[in-house]
Amino acid sequence: MSIWLPDVTGRSGPLYRAIVEALADDVAAGRLPVGTRLPPHRDLAWRLHCTVGTIARAYAEAARRGLVDGQVGRGTYVVEPAAAPRHLHDYVAARAVEADGVVDMAINRPSGDLSSPAVADALRRLADRNDLGALLGYQLDGVLPRHRAALARWAALEGVTVRPEQIICTVGGQQAILVTLAALSRPGDVILAEELTYPGLKVAAGLLDRVVEGVAMDGQGLCPDALDQALRTTRARVVYCLPTNQNPTMVVMPLARRQEIIAVARRHGAVLVEDGIYAFLAESPPPSLWSLAPDCCVYLSSLSKAVAPALRVGFVAAPEALVNRINGNVSASTMMVPPLLGEVAAQMIENGAAEAAMRRQAAEARERMALARILLGEAACPAGPAFNLWLPLPPPWRADAFAAEAYRRGVVLAPAGSFATTRQVPEAVRVSISAPPSHAALRSGLKVVAELLAAGPDGGGLMV
Ligand SMILES: Cc1ncc(COP(=O)(O)O)c(C=O)c1O
Repeated sequence: MSIWLPDVTGRSGPLYRAIVEALADDVAAGRLPVGTRLPPHRDLAWRLHCTVGTIARAYAEAARRGLVDGQVGRGTYVVEPAAAPRHLHDYVAARAVEADGVVDMAINRPSGDLSSPAVADALRRLADRNDLGALLGYQLDGVLPRHRAALARWAALEGVTVRPEQIICTVGGQQAILVTLAALSRPGDVILAEELTYPGLKVAAGLLDRVVEGVAMDGQGLCPDALDQALRTTRARVVYCLPTNQNPTMVVMPLARRQEIIAVARRHGAVLVEDGIYAFLAESPPPSLWSLAPDCCVYLSSLSKAVAPALRVGFVAAPEALVNRINGNVSASTMMVPPLLGEVAAQMIENGAAEAAMRRQAAEARERMALARILLGEAACPAGPAFNLWLPLPPPWRADAFAAEAYRRGVVLAPAGSFATTRQVPEAVRVSISAPPSHAALRSGLKVVAELLAAGPDGGGLMV
């Protein structure tokens, strides 16, 4: 068989990237079937008249993108494309949640129906207004100035001081992530994130053809040395992270660690994209990254966890030089945030109803966590109130088997693979305590988790 030669003609950018793109095209077109061994570095370098280092870089990048797998001394092979979920429900089994009698402990959502009366009130007032027409047209700049001001007020509740002109209103936190990544990076770029992160980051990056790479964490969050090395080796310039109530570990990064992370980002000229969506749950968190270093941060959040996900109101706070670019991405994707929903959210922020909903959710999270402590023990629970637990499983449990067995018993959990950004996927599950509709449902879900932990994978003839 003839040696594979990537067609790099007409491709712009550095040669290593052109090789990866040619490789991706050949895999997609079936010219390089799964299992094909790629030429040794030296051979390909000789044929392409480049250095062995360029080929090594291309193969490493291809491995990062999940196109090939390489082991020193054994060669580099085309691999089965990793199932790249485009849908969040592929990660968290959300569809199963609709089934009768199933306790949803997979999704982090506000508990119960706590916001409904306040939303109903805002809708009634909206219906009675005689200037509704103003909310029924196009908002070509994406948002009404009043809505921006309201969101700046909301951001202050999350510890983020921002001027309304720095706010970009988005369709929830998910669009906030998407439009921010699109503004700060280009196709093929690496986005760094914690080694376990919000699955929606992976979905958004996939849609934009960005490559997410995981950075090691410890009990205080992102590790500064690992971040330093990742920034050096990948040349990434965007780091997405959740310093307060990290999803899924719910770790709160201490102040000193925040300062170290900021120093590393500054040294490399990288932007820290801080997702603060769970920050409202923390009792006295350290200052946000944004308030410590507004020069190298973009902050994003939404009302989804504190008020209601279906309002679809979120925002990005960015240095003014970036605002137009991010706003342009909102226009390109959804034109604007539906002004009717923006108005409901703005009213609720202005009259205090949104803050009250937020406080109710935080109080409810405290109560639910107290129940989890009783049923699963202190060690299984984060220190403060949170929407979920992160449960490393005792061996020989495997995360998928644990989640499958829990599902067989009527409880939906999210296994670690949903959150992993590296190939080292821990045997752990995320247990959402916010989603069950009542304390009784939460108790029965937690009991199933406790029983499985106690029994082990072989206990009672369980499936593994
Ligand atoms: C960390 C994080 N960021 C963003 C989002 C998306 O939020 P929204 O529902 O506002 O799009 C979620 C939702 O689960 C999340 O957990």
